Amino acid sequence: EVLAPTPKSLLGRKILITAGPTFENIDPVRFIGNYSSGKMGFALAEEAAKRGAEVFLISGPVNLETNYSSIYRRNVISAKEMYEACREWFPACDVAIFAAAVADFSPDSVASQKIKRNNDDWVLHLKANPDIAASMGQMKKANQLTVGFALETNNEEKNARRKLNDKNLDFIVLNSPNNEGEGFMADTNRISIIYRDGRMEKFPLKSKKEVAADIISAVEKIL
Ligand code: CTP
Ligand code: CA
Repeated sequence: EVLAPTPKSLLGRKILITAGPTFENIDPVRFIGNYSSGKMGFALAEEAAKRGAEVFLISGPVNLETNYSSIYRRNVISAKEMYEACREWFPACDVAIFAAAVADFSPDSVASQKIKRNNDDWVLHLKANPDIAASMGQMKKANQLTVGFALETNNEEKNARRKLNDKNLDFIVLNSPNNEGEGFMADTNRISIIYRDGRMEKFPLKSKKEVAADIISAVEKIL
């Protein structure tokens, strides 16, 4: 197969991408986290790099490698670390895509020794983590563009539209974990894109690589 060279339509652009889950430590051997393979975020990073962008990939704990010299990767563990890395890199970027499955809460304190199971129950107190997308949405300048994801189990469209608004996103990618072959661990995804003007664009079931190309193309149309 001979592939046509990808047009370098994102040359000179800087794109921040968050990917994977975050892990919030409870003690030295336990954590709270979300299901996420990181595949969607990495596919977005590679698609943007192929089109000539400089990519700043902030990744939670995943089992993925990427080999592009124009992808600068920073590995983080917790939501707080991901937030700090975004605050550092976002001001210099043209676009940010928040594909990470960030843990919404973390334990109040991390036990320094392993918590023993010598009780019948255990109450763990959690505090809210920073909302990275919303916080970057507040910092956003007129020439910057932000994109979020919404993974919903119910009232999908209504919830996605609220997130689009609350996080000051330019568009939100809606996907649902309800159907087979879609969602966090799969290689495929069925998405809808909801734009600020209210328009919703529906896509068929595709590989995450193809979905990444659709999302990057949607970004390019707005840039
Ligand atoms: N997000 C983020 N920081 C967080 C939580 C979410 O940047 N602390 C981003 C995600 O990367 C995603 C978008 O916000 O792009 C929506 O995430 P989601 O978990 O669907 O929404 P939440 O605002 O966390 O609301 P909830 O989990 O209560 O539905
Ligand atoms: Ca959440």
